[in-house]
Amino acid sequence: MHPDLIESVPLETQICYLIASALFILSLKWLSAPTTSRKGVLVGEIGMAIAILGTLRMPEIQTFQWIIICILVGTAVGVPLAMLMPMTAVPQRTALSHAFGGLAVGCVGTAEYFTSLHATTHLTAFKMGVLALEVLLGFLTFTGSLMAFGKLQEILPSRPLVYKGQNFINLMLLVAAIFVGVSLVVDPTKSVLFPALVVLALLFGILLIIPIGGADMPTVISLLNSYAGMSASAMGFVLDNKLLIIAGALDGSSGFILSIIMCKAMNRSFINVLFGAFGQAPTGAAAAQEKRNVRSAQAEEAAQILGSASTVVIVPGYGMAVAQAQHKVRELYDQLTKRGVEVRFGIHPVAGRMPGHMNVLLAEADIPYDRLSEMEDVNPEMSHTDVVLIIGANDVTNPAARHDKSSPIYGMPIIDCDKARTVMVIKRSMSSGFAGIDNELYYMDKTLMLFGDAKGFVGEMVKELASNND
Ligand code: TAP
Repeated sequence: MHPDLIESVPLETQICYLIASALFILSLKWLSAPTTSRKGVLVGEIGMAIAILGTLRMPEIQTFQWIIICILVGTAVGVPLAMLMPMTAVPQRTALSHAFGGLAVGCVGTAEYFTSLHATTHLTAFKMGVLALEVLLGFLTFTGSLMAFGKLQEILPSRPLVYKGQNFINLMLLVAAIFVGVSLVVDPTKSVLFPALVVLALLFGILLIIPIGGADMPTVISLLNSYAGMSASAMGFVLDNKLLIIAGALDGSSGFILSIIMCKAMNRSFINVLFGAFGQAPTGAAAAQEKRNVRSAQAEEAAQILGSASTVVIVPGYGMAVAQAQHKVRELYDQLTKRGVEVRFGIHPVAGRMPGHMNVLLAEADIPYDRLSEMEDVNPEMSHTDVVLIIGANDVTNPAARHDKSSPIYGMPIIDCDKARTVMVIKRSMSSGFAGIDNELYYMDKTLMLFGDAKGFVGEMVKELASNND
């Protein structure tokens, strides 16, 4: 940091930034486990409040009028958005937040460039370099995240949009943007190049996302989160703000790690998610399902089977989230444990539509955390399990992922439900899941299909068990 700036940052601001940085690190640490995640959110919020208070003490801030107006407008938009948005729409809401974050970073970079150009302070090569990076990442995050939002919200077609020479064109755009950025570093006064950098970044953001299918969008969103973090970090260097550097780096690296974890869980190549046309299964896949017989049962029979089991593993999926069945599932858990049945929950890392989706829902219903088992922990127990009850999960239980090389989900790790003694599946029909493919688990002799809405069906089983328990 420039010596003049060290003096210009008040001590109380520096202390606030130090405390906020420590709280952000603690927050990330706590967010990584369901038992501590609520604490993690709270600590992160406190850290942000301290960071804002510290920033408001900076001598550059002469008047608070516009800041207060912006806080009020932001709160008026943000609070209803957070309260009204259904859990299943969180991925697109996150994409929208990243878009605004990227836009803010890009605008700050642009303002800083033109202010520095007309001020006496010299734009050093380092400052111009990080500024160009900030603007590039900020604006590409803006348009890229808007595209991701549009695809997830189905305002735009969610299928991959591909054309000949796409990767080459994308690469050339990136090369052109880097060339313009380097030219500005060499001569920052060539201000005519700056709008070109902005336009190239905006265009690159769009073209980078259109070849990616809806299925890979959550992975892309966490990658865009990473870009937003890196751009904020670059902005920290431009503005000589240590807190922004640290917070941006934390955001950038955690988003990057999450993208890699999600790619592994969905068996996607990270490079292909970045550059390939991946996503939806061929549209004919679901339609091509042959008509095969399945065994089905009503709630009464299913409740009896559950009630007489010693060990039950419940595997929740997207359908439980759609049906908002988590509270009924809690009642089912209570009824079964009352009868002495040992109940665990098998959680697949990409069950649902966002990371941690099932954990959040089950925590909302106060299911004890120690009953939740990760896929790696529950799979070795499957062959000793009497009944596995699948509630609105499909792809994450499909044995084709283990052996069918032609399947679009081949190689994706699954919960080994087929190894349990009895399999029961609650879903409304024989429709496919997200990957658009049939599930061979449903046709096994030991499988019973329980057709119905997850909330309604679980509710009926709870009634049966309760009347037997009384
Ligand atoms: P899916 O494979 O999407 O299957 C969900 C099933 O729920 C459907 O087959 C559907 O069948 C059933 N369902 C829907 N509404 C229901 C309701 N009201 N009551 C009962 N059942 C209902 O879900 P999954 O097993 O959780 O797998 C997740 C999929 O999403 C994976 O392919 C994963 O790769 C993908 N994905 C995950 C993420 C993350 S990060 N979690 C991100 C992107 C994509 P019916 O229509 O017959 O009821």
